[in-house]
Amino acid sequence: MALSTDTFDIGGELTVHRLGYGAMRITGEDIIGQPDDESAAIELVREAVDMGVDFIDTADSYGPGVSERLLGEAVAPDDGVVLATKAGLLRNSEGEWLPHGDPDYIRNQVLASKDRLGVDTIDLYQYHRPDPETPFEDSVQAFGELKDAGFVDHVGLSNVSVDQLETARDHVEIATVQNRYNVTYRDDEDVLEACEEYDIGFIPWYPMAAGDFGDKEDTLAAVAQNHNATPHQIALAWLLEHSDVTLPIPGTSSYDHLQQNIAAADIPLTADEYNRLL
Ligand SMILES: NC(=O)c1ccc[n+]([C@@H]2O[C@H](COP(=O)([O-])OP(=O)(O)OC[C@H]3O[C@@H](n4cnc5c(N)ncnc54)[C@H](OP(=O)(O)O)[C@@H]3O)[C@@H](O)[C@H]2O)c1
Repeated sequence: MALSTDTFDIGGELTVHRLGYGAMRITGEDIIGQPDDESAAIELVREAVDMGVDFIDTADSYGPGVSERLLGEAVAPDDGVVLATKAGLLRNSEGEWLPHGDPDYIRNQVLASKDRLGVDTIDLYQYHRPDPETPFEDSVQAFGELKDAGFVDHVGLSNVSVDQLETARDHVEIATVQNRYNVTYRDDEDVLEACEEYDIGFIPWYPMAAGDFGDKEDTLAAVAQNHNATPHQIALAWLLEHSDVTLPIPGTSSYDHLQQNIAAADIPLTADEYNRLL
């Protein structure tokens, strides 16, 4: 099994296959702490890389720290993998996700992420979610300063509106936007269209809606049957077909699902099948 998709140049220079891997779920329950079997999690990431995955997404808050640390063990600097991480959310033992865009905190987190990932420079550093308590421009400027200082190669945003994307672009070049988006949840179509206009990578998180396909469930099942595939695979194939700038990052802790997700890149939807899922 080998990944075959067309490619996208993140920030115009980091060439990746358009199907990556989301490393949020290689942690413990509720994305807190260690997974049951760390070696299996590391092995799964290695399998993904062996199959051709060259774009992996994580965040300092996954674990917190655990997902980045395991990636640091699984991925070697010469594997040719673009590692994307994020800062801007705190966790607590209740499992809450707490926005924290304070510039000093961001400057601290980049050092910790570099250490856990085992890299000199972070390929893509994303602001995880705007913080209502911190002016958005202040947080974005901190990311821009980290890029200028050489700590990170490219800056991305996550969970932003078109207005916020435009504001951020006044301060720093934005290489990617990562928002919730999938075949059954398309609230941010306008953000995707803005990314297309500016040739910004659009990373749809929750790309398979974790199997909760709502009103698209029956159509996905019918199209899946045509291709001897699963509804999850068709959801990924649809995202790849929908726009040239989408970079889905399906997350899994299962080897079988990893193989299926990679195989989804080879499923050619007919125009009719694509349109039925619009
Ligand atoms: N920026 C943000 O705010 C944000 C928020 C959430 C997530 N993310 C990113 O987006 C990535 C993906 O999101 P996600 O993990 O929430 O959603 P997802 O990729 O849509 O779904 C993952 C879930 O689906 C299951 N699954 C995966 N492949 C499958 C397959 N082929 N067949 C059946 N089930 C399958 C997984 O379980 P198994 O482990 O059993 O396969 C897991 O429970 C994350 O890893 C993270 O990097 C970002």
